[in-house]
Amino acid sequence: MHPGKKAAALTALKHVEENSLLGVGTGSTINVFIELLAASGIKLAGCVASSKATATLLEKYHFEVMDLNVTGQLELYIDGTDEVNPALHLIKGGGGALTREKILAGASNKFICIADDSKEVDVLGEFPLPVEIIPMARSFVSREIVKLGADPEYREGPPTDNGNVIVDCSGFTITDPIELEATINAIPGVVTNGLFARRAADLLVIGHDDGEVYSRTAK
Ligand code: A5P
Repeated sequence: MHPGKKAAALTALKHVEENSLLGVGTGSTINVFIELLAASGIKLAGCVASSKATATLLEKYHFEVMDLNVTGQLELYIDGTDEVNPALHLIKGGGGALTREKILAGASNKFICIADDSKEVDVLGEFPLPVEIIPMARSFVSREIVKLGADPEYREGPPTDNGNVIVDCSGFTITDPIELEATINAIPGVVTNGLFARRAADLLVIGHDDGEVYSRTAK
């Protein structure tokens, strides 16, 4: 188990209350978190998964995976990230689950982001920004993204859990994440993009390889 991810996940676990409704993200850090959650013995009222992969892992550990339309608002959402800036704006979607992740972040009272220390940056954009697109709009949206100054690359492989495609956009220097998030989302055919700025994380928990952890809110 990656020591930095484990350290961050263990700290996040302290925020999970018995019998609560928990939103659960996607990725290798969250997989560590789910294993630790199962080992902790904490009983949940239920959880909502941000991907089919996460739902499968939660069910393996006998957590009840529920429909967001049934649960209503969630108390807490925990997820990893691909990049995080000082304002706790994120780039997410390296694992392709950005749309459901953004829905759960939006539908939760509190969003805790857990990561190892490699994810912290001053300015977002070195990690290519994922954009989920309705398949018929792929080349149109890609041309619009080129006009915004980036280089979109079609992600080969199976469709997203929502049946869509992803383009990964390199070359953005994202000094105004809130504006860029809105601009890309306004292109017809875009489902959403991986910027989590309008709804940023509320708390960041960073784990280091030596097991040290620190938590902080937005600067
Ligand atoms: C999934 O689509 C992503 O948003 C992940 O949350 C993000 O890529 C973090 O993944 P890792 O924990 O594997 O780095």
